[in-house]
Amino acid sequence: MPNDNSTSSAAPQVLEKEALTQNKSAVFKGNNITCTFGHGKKMVKGIDDVTFDIKQEEIVSIVGGSGCGKSVLAKTMLGLIKPTSGKLLYKNREITDPKVHWREVQAVYQDPFSCFNQFFTIRSQLKDAFGIFKDKISNEEKDRRVDEALMAVNMKPNEVEGKYPFELSGGQMQRMLLARIFALKPQVLIADEPTSMVDACVRANILDYLMKLKHELKMTIVFVTHDIGLAYYVSDRIFIMHGGKIIEQGSPDQIALSPKSPHTIELLDDIPDIHKEWIK
Ligand SMILES: Nc1ncnc2c1ncn2[C@@H]1O[C@H](COP(=O)(O)OP(=O)(O)OP(=O)(O)O)[C@@H](O)[C@H]1O
Ligand SMILES: [Mg+2]
Repeated sequence: MPNDNSTSSAAPQVLEKEALTQNKSAVFKGNNITCTFGHGKKMVKGIDDVTFDIKQEEIVSIVGGSGCGKSVLAKTMLGLIKPTSGKLLYKNREITDPKVHWREVQAVYQDPFSCFNQFFTIRSQLKDAFGIFKDKISNEEKDRRVDEALMAVNMKPNEVEGKYPFELSGGQMQRMLLARIFALKPQVLIADEPTSMVDACVRANILDYLMKLKHELKMTIVFVTHDIGLAYYVSDRIFIMHGGKIIEQGSPDQIALSPKSPHTIELLDDIPDIHKEWIK
């Protein structure tokens, strides 16, 4: 992690960590994947000939301007969009049944309210989430795991008791989404702009929860953001996208300190001032 006060004396540890990451097997492997929408003159390329891999327990950020293909790439990894051409493998296999895929690969999105039904209590929806698993889980076990997950995101179970989504704030609902992740303990989390609608304080909290998830559950995280400063703070590797392509990829320091593409330089110029201090 670039934020662990790495100094020259810590360099051997950094190198050791990089070597460990390089030895891990690939969770996702994309080879020349293209996703197109529509036909003829109206055809749009969401992503265009993208090749990448994401290793076990890595945090990879996908960064780029609006419309560059970040969410389309994230959706292919979730099994929501099938590539039009090329090959995408999850643990060396193609994604054939999304429902089976979601037992291991889960998502958090920008708008937590769209992920919860307003007419059911939060607890009942957190418990329903266990329905994706093949094995039946008892009601008591579901309650126990939901309580544990709520406490992991600093909510007391009684703060949520009997509550519906509209009775909580946006920031609290973002935490409910993360609680669902804590409860389901997926191997991979795809986080698509999970902090773009919240204030700086809640944003810092969400990032801390993501780090906690990564360390406690040893998860692989794909983090989608516009903000290269945030990506620098949380990632092991950064992919820069533009026009549907991954135009540059590397460690946070490679990307931030020796950017190659003018689009990367543009993104670096756009970092909000409050995040600039992260890049030393
Ligand atoms: N279902 C769809 N049908 C048609 N075009 C789509 C569809 N989904 C995405 N696109 C197009 O694919 C391109 C990439 O979209 P994508 O949602 O990945 O952008 P993004 O990088 O996530 O942008 P933002 O930062 O605004 O969320 C855009 O031109 C978009 O209009
Ligand atoms: Mg998007």
